[in-house]
Amino acid sequence: MVQSFSPHVFADYDQLSAAAARVVMEKMVMGIETKGKFVLGCATGSTPEGLYKHLISLLAKQDLDLSRLYTVNLDEYFPIKRSDPQSYYHFMLTHLWQPLAAVNSSFDYQSQTFVPNGEATDADTECRAYEEKIKAMGGVDIQIVGIGVNGHIGFNEPGSPADSRTRTVTLESSTVEANSRFFGSIDQVPKQALTMGIGTILEAKEILVLASGKAKAPILKALWVLEEPTVAIPASWLLSHPQVSFFIDREAQTE
Ligand code: PGA
Repeated sequence: MVQSFSPHVFADYDQLSAAAARVVMEKMVMGIETKGKFVLGCATGSTPEGLYKHLISLLAKQDLDLSRLYTVNLDEYFPIKRSDPQSYYHFMLTHLWQPLAAVNSSFDYQSQTFVPNGEATDADTECRAYEEKIKAMGGVDIQIVGIGVNGHIGFNEPGSPADSRTRTVTLESSTVEANSRFFGSIDQVPKQALTMGIGTILEAKEILVLASGKAKAPILKALWVLEEPTVAIPASWLLSHPQVSFFIDREAQTE
C-alpha cells in the first residue's frame, strides 16, 4: 500500500542539503548516544554531495565519538578498481570519509565503511557477503537514496523485483547515458553494477530520499499519482516504507 505523505519542499539544493544533513546528524547523535552505534546508508551521485558537505561541517563542531559510526553504500560499478576516480569507493573517500576523518580522528574509514567490491573475482559471493555484513551490523539506521530519471534506486533498474537482494545488475541505457557525464565517453561507463536490492533497501529502519533539479520532476510526478507500487518504477516501493521522507527542491517539484 502506498501511504499518504507529502514531500518536504526546499527553495533550492543547498537548503535541501542542509536540512538533510541536520536530520542525519540528529539521528547519528541519538544512535551513538543511546545505542552506542549508528549505521548510515550512503548513496553516491550528484544529489547527496551537498548533504555530505553540510554533514562534515556539522560534525566538525561536535565532539562525537565516531568510532561507532559505520557507513554502508547502496552500490558500485562492476567491474571497477577502487582507485578509479569514477568508482563509488573513490567518491565516498573524497566526499565523506577523508574529510570526516580530517575533522574527527575517531572515525577510521579503513574499518568502518563498506561499499560493494567492484574488484571482486566472484560477484555472487561478494553480494551474499555484503548482505551478511549489513545484517551483522544490525541493519541500516537511515538510508540516503537518490532517484534516477528512470525511477531507479541504487542500481535497481525498472523491472527489479520488490524482494530483490544485493546482486549483479545490467544498467539501462538511460542510466549509462546519465552517468556518462562523469566519464570521458559513454563507452567508458561500466555496463554492470553490484547493488543492494529493493528488499535490502526497504529493510533500513528509516529512508531519506533526495531529489533535486528539473530533470527529476517527471519521475516524481509519476510517483505522486501512483496508488500502488509498481515494478516499472523501482522508487515506488519506497512509498510503502513506514519511515520514509522525501526532501526535494522547488525545481524538482511538479505543479
Ligand atoms: P544523481 O543520481 O544524484 O546523480 O542525479 C541519482 C541516481 O541515479 O540514483
